[in-house]
Amino acid sequence: MKPLILVTGGLGYIGSHTVIELAQSGYEPLIIDNLSNSSLRVLDRLETIADRPFTFEKIDLNDHAAMKHLFQRYPNIRGVIHFAASKAVGESIEKPLLYYRNNVSALVNLLELVETNSVPGIIFSSSCTVYGQPNILPVTESMPFGKASSPYGRSKQIGEQILMDASSTSAFTCIALRYFNPIGAHESGLIGELPNGVPSNLVPFITQTAAGLRDKLRVFGNDYNTPDGTAIRDYIHVMDLAAAHVAALNRQLQGKQTSNYEIFNIGTGQGFSVLELIEAFDRVNNRPLPFKIADRRPGDIEKIFADTTKASQVLQWRAKRSLHDMMRTAWQWQENLMNESFTSTTQPQYDNR
Ligand SMILES: NC(=O)c1ccc[n+]([C@@H]2O[C@H](COP(=O)([O-])OP(=O)(O)OC[C@H]3O[C@@H](n4cnc5c(N)ncnc54)[C@H](O)[C@@H]3O)[C@@H](O)[C@H]2O)c1
Repeated sequence: MKPLILVTGGLGYIGSHTVIELAQSGYEPLIIDNLSNSSLRVLDRLETIADRPFTFEKIDLNDHAAMKHLFQRYPNIRGVIHFAASKAVGESIEKPLLYYRNNVSALVNLLELVETNSVPGIIFSSSCTVYGQPNILPVTESMPFGKASSPYGRSKQIGEQILMDASSTSAFTCIALRYFNPIGAHESGLIGELPNGVPSNLVPFITQTAAGLRDKLRVFGNDYNTPDGTAIRDYIHVMDLAAAHVAALNRQLQGKQTSNYEIFNIGTGQGFSVLELIEAFDRVNNRPLPFKIADRRPGDIEKIFADTTKASQVLQWRAKRSLHDMMRTAWQWQENLMNESFTSTTQPQYDNR
């Protein structure tokens, strides 16, 4: 029987791509999501891509009774991949308690159930945001947390600390994957990043601007200490990120962890500036983008990219897809969305998480 893996937030952007990768790698995903930032259409599309049904339960992680009942009904859960969270940096500044409830309290509830139901391990969606602006690049996992620029970033730091403490005294183990900037979409063009309302990531703004849904892209700051003055990030294709989850899960289930709490940077190791990304999008898709330079945004850091040595040596995982693949699949996804009513047309901005 295939190991049953609970995927929280499994209809979201990264979760949905990981469900496909899990199913193709011999795991049985059990998807839960409260649909706060996703849609049931994603489930249909997952089933189309995989040509099979998936088990899905609409559950809010904050509903402790429903979560308890879920673990009772599925006593054979072998692992948890915990994607479900709120993720908009700007919103987290306006509504910090919502972020602490959804990203911190919900995690504690989940861990209590993991512990009482003797689930052997959990994989946690962390973020490069925990580093703040590192002094040394590329950033390694051993660098300490930096100053969090938002309650969202702080919620990821607190989440990691809770997992570190809990896994040191409990029977379960944890792997925290610190994602850099996931972009792109599945090759089928059927799933991709689907922001509800105003997107908070750069690439949906690029694709929505290219699609004519937005007038102009705003580039926040061109006076950073970078070659072209715009901020630098380590962009990673979402399917490479999905594959990293399977590599981590294999390690966890095979009992290969050398400590109860392990951390891996998941990026490509290469940084690209905002202008380089805009230029790559045009080159790959033949779509010049109207943009204007705006002031720096408070909370944005100048540059970050990953040292991925640990992931390649320990997980035997490495990002395979190029920036070209990221831009091509992101646009293919947007083109497929054009005839649907998913997107909104409010003022563009972007977060670099
Ligand atoms: N996308 C990024 O740039 C990025 C970068 C670093 C880390 N992360 C982290 O990765 C994880 C997944 O991110 P994503 O981009 O796929 O986000 P997403 O919003 O697309 O997916 C999250 C999913 O969780 C669901 N959800 C939220 N709260 C829930 C709750 N209380 N109960 C049940 N379901 C709930 C949402 O409906 C959504 O489908 C998050 O933890 C996020 O913080 C994302």
